[in-house]
Amino acid sequence: MTGNDVAAADFYGTPDGLETFLPDEAATINLGRQLAAALRQGGSVHLHGNLGAGKTTLVRALLCELGHDGPVRSPTYALVETYDIHGLAVYHLDLYRTADPDELEFIGLRDWLRPGNLILIEWPERAAGYLPAPGLRIDLAHADNGRRVRLSGPLAAGLSLPDAW
Ligand SMILES: Nc1ncnc2c1ncn2[C@@H]1O[C@H](COP(=O)(O)OP(=O)(O)OP(=O)(O)O)[C@@H](O)[C@H]1O
Ligand SMILES: [Mg+2]
Repeated sequence: MTGNDVAAADFYGTPDGLETFLPDEAATINLGRQLAAALRQGGSVHLHGNLGAGKTTLVRALLCELGHDGPVRSPTYALVETYDIHGLAVYHLDLYRTADPDELEFIGLRDWLRPGNLILIEWPERAAGYLPAPGLRIDLAHADNGRRVRLSGPLAAGLSLPDAW
Protein backbone atom coordinates (compact mmCIF):
# COMPACT_ATOMS: atom_id res chain seq x y z
CA MET A 1 0.00 0.00 0.00
CA THR A 2 1.17 3.49 -0.72
CA GLY A 3 1.43 5.88 2.18
CA ASN A 4 -1.77 7.77 2.78
CA ASP A 5 -3.67 9.25 5.64
CA VAL A 6 -6.72 7.02 5.48
CA ALA A 7 -6.79 4.08 7.85
CA ALA A 8 -6.99 0.80 5.98
CA ALA A 9 -10.12 -1.24 6.53
CA ASP A 10 -9.68 -4.55 8.36
CA PHE A 11 -10.88 -7.47 6.27
CA TYR A 12 -12.03 -10.78 7.63
CA GLY A 13 -12.52 -14.05 5.81
CA THR A 14 -15.96 -15.62 5.34
CA PRO A 15 -16.95 -18.69 3.30
CA ASP A 16 -18.02 -16.25 0.57
CA GLY A 17 -14.92 -14.07 0.45
CA LEU A 18 -13.20 -11.22 2.25
CA GLU A 19 -15.48 -8.70 3.93
CA THR A 20 -15.27 -5.40 5.69
CA PHE A 21 -17.27 -2.27 6.51
CA LEU A 22 -16.43 0.96 4.70
CA PRO A 23 -17.70 3.73 6.98
CA ASP A 24 -17.36 6.59 4.51
CA GLU A 25 -16.41 7.54 0.97
CA ALA A 26 -12.75 7.85 1.95
CA ALA A 27 -12.72 4.17 2.92
CA THR A 28 -14.13 3.19 -0.49
CA ILE A 29 -11.48 5.31 -2.18
CA ASN A 30 -8.81 3.72 -0.05
CA LEU A 31 -9.95 0.24 -1.09
CA GLY A 32 -9.91 1.24 -4.76
CA ARG A 33 -6.32 2.36 -4.35
CA GLN A 34 -5.35 -0.84 -2.55
CA LEU A 35 -6.64 -2.94 -5.44
CA ALA A 36 -4.37 -1.25 -7.98
CA ALA A 37 -1.33 -3.43 -7.27
CA ALA A 38 -3.26 -6.62 -8.08
CA LEU A 39 -4.74 -5.23 -11.32
CA ARG A 40 -1.78 -3.45 -12.86
CA GLN A 41 -1.26 -6.31 -15.33
CA GLY A 42 -4.94 -6.40 -16.24
CA GLY A 43 -7.86 -8.51 -15.07
CA SER A 44 -11.63 -8.64 -15.09
CA VAL A 45 -13.64 -7.16 -12.25
CA HIS A 46 -17.40 -7.33 -11.71
CA LEU A 47 -18.87 -4.67 -9.41
CA HIS A 48 -22.25 -5.59 -7.93
CA GLY A 49 -24.38 -3.31 -5.81
CA ASN A 50 -27.40 -1.05 -5.91
CA LEU A 51 -27.62 2.45 -7.34
CA GLY A 52 -25.24 4.63 -5.37
CA ALA A 53 -23.46 1.71 -3.69
CA GLY A 54 -20.05 3.15 -4.57
CA LYS A 55 -19.00 1.17 -7.66
CA THR A 56 -17.91 4.17 -9.73
CA THR A 57 -16.27 5.78 -6.70
CA LEU A 58 -14.12 2.68 -6.26
CA VAL A 59 -13.23 2.48 -9.98
CA ARG A 60 -12.28 6.17 -9.99
CA ALA A 61 -9.83 5.65 -7.12
CA LEU A 62 -8.41 2.52 -8.74
CA LEU A 63 -7.76 4.23 -12.08
CA CYS A 64 -6.25 7.23 -10.35
CA GLU A 65 -3.88 4.97 -8.40
CA LEU A 66 -2.93 3.16 -11.61
CA GLY A 67 -1.74 6.50 -12.93
CA HIS A 68 -4.75 7.92 -14.77
CA ASP A 69 -4.63 11.65 -14.65
CA GLY A 70 -7.99 13.11 -15.58
CA PRO A 71 -11.70 12.61 -15.06
CA VAL A 72 -13.35 9.20 -14.70
CA ARG A 73 -16.90 9.59 -15.88
CA SER A 74 -19.67 7.20 -14.98
CA PRO A 75 -20.37 5.15 -18.13
CA THR A 76 -24.09 5.00 -17.34
CA TYR A 77 -25.09 6.61 -20.62
CA ALA A 78 -22.06 5.93 -22.80
CA LEU A 79 -22.06 2.22 -21.77
CA VAL A 80 -18.27 2.20 -21.83
CA GLU A 81 -15.41 4.57 -21.09
CA THR A 82 -11.97 3.51 -22.26
CA TYR A 83 -8.55 4.56 -21.00
CA ASP A 84 -4.94 3.91 -21.86
CA ILE A 85 -3.04 4.11 -18.59
CA HIS A 86 0.66 3.84 -19.33
CA GLY A 87 -0.05 1.17 -21.93
CA LEU A 88 -2.73 -0.67 -19.91
CA ALA A 89 -5.99 -0.78 -21.90
CA VAL A 90 -8.89 -0.17 -19.51
CA TYR A 91 -12.59 -0.68 -20.29
CA HIS A 92 -15.05 0.60 -17.68
CA LEU A 93 -18.62 -0.47 -18.43
CA ASP A 94 -21.97 0.19 -16.81
CA LEU A 95 -24.59 -2.24 -18.08
CA TYR A 96 -27.51 -0.77 -16.11
CA ARG A 97 -29.29 0.27 -19.28
CA THR A 98 -28.37 -2.78 -21.29
CA ALA A 99 -31.43 -4.71 -22.28
CA ASP A 100 -29.88 -7.18 -24.65
CA PRO A 101 -26.45 -8.88 -24.65
CA ASP A 102 -26.40 -8.40 -28.45
CA GLU A 103 -25.64 -4.79 -27.64
CA LEU A 104 -22.41 -5.96 -26.01
CA GLU A 105 -21.53 -8.07 -29.02
CA PHE A 106 -22.12 -5.00 -31.17
CA ILE A 107 -19.77 -2.75 -29.22
CA GLY A 108 -17.07 -5.44 -29.34
CA LEU A 109 -16.95 -6.48 -25.70
CA ARG A 110 -15.76 -9.98 -26.55
CA ASP A 111 -12.61 -8.59 -28.16
CA TRP A 112 -11.75 -6.64 -25.02
CA LEU A 113 -12.00 -9.64 -22.73
CA ARG A 114 -8.45 -10.81 -22.95
CA PRO A 115 -5.55 -11.11 -20.53
CA GLY A 116 -3.55 -7.94 -20.27
CA ASN A 117 -6.62 -5.69 -20.52
CA LEU A 118 -8.39 -4.38 -17.45
CA ILE A 119 -12.18 -4.78 -17.66
CA LEU A 120 -14.34 -3.22 -14.95
CA ILE A 121 -18.07 -3.92 -15.20
CA GLU A 122 -20.82 -2.27 -13.14
CA TRP A 123 -24.20 -4.06 -13.22
CA PRO A 124 -22.74 -7.26 -14.73
CA GLU A 125 -25.96 -9.11 -13.80
CA ARG A 126 -27.60 -7.34 -16.74
CA ALA A 127 -25.51 -9.58 -19.00
CA ALA A 128 -25.68 -12.73 -16.90
CA GLY A 129 -24.98 -15.78 -19.01
CA TYR A 130 -23.00 -13.77 -21.51
CA LEU A 131 -20.02 -12.68 -19.44
CA PRO A 132 -17.36 -15.13 -18.29
CA ALA A 133 -16.75 -15.37 -14.54
CA PRO A 134 -14.54 -12.47 -13.38
CA GLY A 135 -11.16 -12.67 -11.71
CA LEU A 136 -12.43 -10.43 -8.96
CA ARG A 137 -16.00 -9.88 -7.83
CA ILE A 138 -16.81 -6.89 -5.64
CA ASP A 139 -20.17 -6.68 -3.85
CA LEU A 140 -21.05 -3.33 -2.30
CA ALA A 141 -24.15 -2.79 -0.18
CA HIS A 142 -25.56 0.12 1.80
CA ALA A 143 -25.19 -0.48 5.53
CA ASP A 144 -26.02 2.17 8.10
CA ASN A 145 -24.40 5.31 6.71
CA GLY A 146 -21.58 3.37 5.07
CA ARG A 147 -21.14 0.32 2.88
CA ARG A 148 -20.38 -3.35 3.35
CA VAL A 149 -18.02 -4.80 0.79
CA ARG A 150 -17.17 -8.37 -0.13
CA LEU A 151 -14.30 -9.40 -2.38
CA SER A 152 -14.41 -12.83 -3.99
CA GLY A 153 -13.17 -14.75 -7.01
CA PRO A 154 -9.71 -16.14 -7.79
CA LEU A 155 -7.95 -12.79 -7.60
CA ALA A 156 -9.32 -12.08 -4.12
CA ALA A 157 -7.30 -14.96 -2.72
CA GLY A 158 -4.04 -13.29 -3.70
CA LEU A 159 -4.84 -9.81 -2.45
CA SER A 160 -2.70 -8.39 0.26
CA LEU A 161 -5.13 -6.52 2.43
CA PRO A 162 -4.85 -5.62 6.10
CA ASP A 163 -5.86 -8.47 8.38
CA ALA A 164 -7.08 -10.59 5.48
CA TRP A 165 -6.59 -14.32 5.72
N1 LIG B 1 -18.31 3.76 2.11
C1 LIG B 1 -19.14 4.77 1.84
N2 LIG B 1 -19.91 5.31 2.79
C2 LIG B 1 -20.77 6.32 2.51
N3 LIG B 1 -20.91 6.87 1.27
C3 LIG B 1 -20.15 6.36 0.28
C4 LIG B 1 -19.24 5.30 0.51
N4 LIG B 1 -18.62 5.00 -0.67
C5 LIG B 1 -19.14 5.82 -1.58
N5 LIG B 1 -20.06 6.65 -1.03
C6 LIG B 1 -20.89 7.66 -1.68
O1 LIG B 1 -21.94 6.99 -2.35
C7 LIG B 1 -22.15 7.51 -3.63
C8 LIG B 1 -21.83 6.41 -4.59
O2 LIG B 1 -21.96 6.83 -5.88
P1 LIG B 1 -21.37 5.97 -7.08
O3 LIG B 1 -21.64 6.75 -8.29
O4 LIG B 1 -19.96 5.56 -6.81
O5 LIG B 1 -22.29 4.68 -7.01
P2 LIG B 1 -22.51 3.52 -8.08
O6 LIG B 1 -22.52 2.26 -7.31
O7 LIG B 1 -21.51 3.63 -9.18
O8 LIG B 1 -23.97 3.81 -8.60
P3 LIG B 1 -24.65 3.51 -10.03
O9 LIG B 1 -25.20 2.11 -9.98
O10 LIG B 1 -25.73 4.51 -10.11
O11 LIG B 1 -23.60 3.66 -11.11
C9 LIG B 1 -21.24 8.73 -3.76
O12 LIG B 1 -21.96 9.87 -3.38
C10 LIG B 1 -20.14 8.44 -2.75
O13 LIG B 1 -19.60 9.61 -2.17
MG1 LIG C 1 -21.70 3.81 -11.19
